[in-house]
Amino acid sequence: MPKHIAIIMDGNGRWAAARHLPRAIGHKRGAEAVRRTVKAAKNLGISYLTLFGFSSENWKRSHSEILDLMQLLRFYLRNELEEMMKNGVRLRIIGDRAKLDPDIVTLIEEVEAATVKNTGVNLTLALSYGGRHEIVEATRKIAKEIVAGKISAEDISESMFANYLETATIPDPDLIIRTSGEKRISNFLLWQSAYTEFVFLDKFWPDFTQKDVEDAVREFGNRERRYGAADS
Ligand code: IPE
Ligand code: IPE
Ligand code: MG
Repeated sequence: MPKHIAIIMDGNGRWAAARHLPRAIGHKRGAEAVRRTVKAAKNLGISYLTLFGFSSENWKRSHSEILDLMQLLRFYLRNELEEMMKNGVRLRIIGDRAKLDPDIVTLIEEVEAATVKNTGVNLTLALSYGGRHEIVEATRKIAKEIVAGKISAEDISESMFANYLETATIPDPDLIIRTSGEKRISNFLLWQSAYTEFVFLDKFWPDFTQKDVEDAVREFGNRERRYGAADS
């Protein structure tokens, strides 16, 4: 059983286009798939679930699509708290909060604080998140501490560096699932995915179900993780 599953939730736009619907409807159905997936994680006993909701590059999209996505996020944060409490979900957000509207940041802080004691599913939403940006920010923090004389360059190690990432308290993902048929990482958890297993699904994100999680977990169970070592 993977301890940490991360998902690149892709294909909302194409799901809608295939039905001659506006992209916004695809995103709305995508939010329903998020709800189903969090429930599935709880049902299957997955401790860490990380969902890529909005990338640092998604700001390149049209103003109206960004507005739709942010409105959906507000709606999700306002309406899911009760369900999160019921399911023991602890919510964390990673990504560049400074780029989000202040009212959304307030909502995030409220839900993070309200769910901080929950011990069921550790749900992390990556919003305005980019793996390269996260690595650069960690480097900046370390550089500042060196300049301030708090640490020395020799103190830098892989485990120490990981502690400066936003995911410091979260284990690396064992399994990353990407929907929609695209086979790329798109700046998601770059550092953290060094030895992650990948499962790519052809279906679009709004069609994702608990059965898809179960199938991906089964496939994960058949993989041999070697971490660079040879069979003896
Ligand atoms: C995923 O679906 C949601 C976000 C990236 C915000 P897309 O909006 O990328 O859908 P496609 O890839 O255009 O179909
Ligand atoms: C990745 O999907 C980001 C999210 C799922 C939030 P994109 O649709 O933005 O990725 P590309 O542009 O196809 O690489
Ligand atoms: Mg996409």
